[in-house]
Amino acid sequence: MSKRILSQFPDQMNVALIGASGGIGHALLEHLLNDPQIGHITAFSRRKIQLSHEKLSCAEIDISNETSIAAASQAITGELHLILIASGLLNVPAHNMPEKALRDLNMTAFQESFAINTVGPALIAKYFMPKMARGGRSVFAALSARVGSISDNQLGGWYSYRASKAALNMVIKTLSIEVARTHKNTLVVGLHPGTVDTSLSAPHSKNIQHEIFTPDQAAGYLLNVINTAPIDQSGGCLDYSGKVIPP
Ligand SMILES: NC(=O)c1ccc[n+]([C@@H]2O[C@H](COP(=O)([O-])OP(=O)(O)OC[C@H]3O[C@@H](n4cnc5c(N)ncnc54)[C@H](OP(=O)(O)O)[C@@H]3O)[C@@H](O)[C@H]2O)c1
Repeated sequence: MSKRILSQFPDQMNVALIGASGGIGHALLEHLLNDPQIGHITAFSRRKIQLSHEKLSCAEIDISNETSIAAASQAITGELHLILIASGLLNVPAHNMPEKALRDLNMTAFQESFAINTVGPALIAKYFMPKMARGGRSVFAALSARVGSISDNQLGGWYSYRASKAALNMVIKTLSIEVARTHKNTLVVGLHPGTVDTSLSAPHSKNIQHEIFTPDQAAGYLLNVINTAPIDQSGGCLDYSGKVIPP
């Protein structure tokens, strides 16, 4: 059933969705395909996406590899109105990730977190932002996490994930300043999806006291924020209800 969420964007808008094979990413893709506002979606993933639709084209990306990101950007045709990054990394059990304590820290794992959660999204901005439309509403959004907030850190642990998401939030802030010089209508934001039932959260769900969203719920909330967040919130990190998460 079709449902228009992205009503503030130009009609027949063009979307690049990165990480479309993930739990939240795939739910975002399904919502976007049901939105009559959408003209075309290019969905990027490492794993192949088992979906075909007249408004969808798929391309491969490895966001830990700059050559792959640059090549992926060539798959985009026309001007973009939404660049949405839904990829991310939390668990690598072989490297004791996420780390519970200092003894678990490991150079390779730490670097991998930064490659996927911080540098990858920054390089996507490098290669994809030149394709962003200048007229009408447009949004560059990357899924971040509340645990990337330094002021909100009460529990400790998860060194590399927390640090890589805090650094992602700084990339977003810095990008928002540069983008505002050329794209007056482009919102640049980090988004916290809430705790969502995916393979990323599953190993930790027994310790979670608050509500856990389905990927479908989270995708609906996130797209609503993408549609309605005001331009003066560019550079910030917003949660699934549009509330600002302090750095
Ligand atoms: N789930 C939660 O509770 C929660 C909470 C806060 C924030 N988040 C954030 O939300 C985002 C999505 O999380 P999720 O729960 O949907 O996780 P997920 O189901 O594990 O999906 C992660 C996605 O990242 C992609 N990815 C990882 N490494 C990649 C690489 N090198 N190149 C390309 N793609 C890569 C995966 O692609 P492949 O599968 O193809 O490898 C997959 O599509 C993440 O940024 C996460 O930090 C999630």
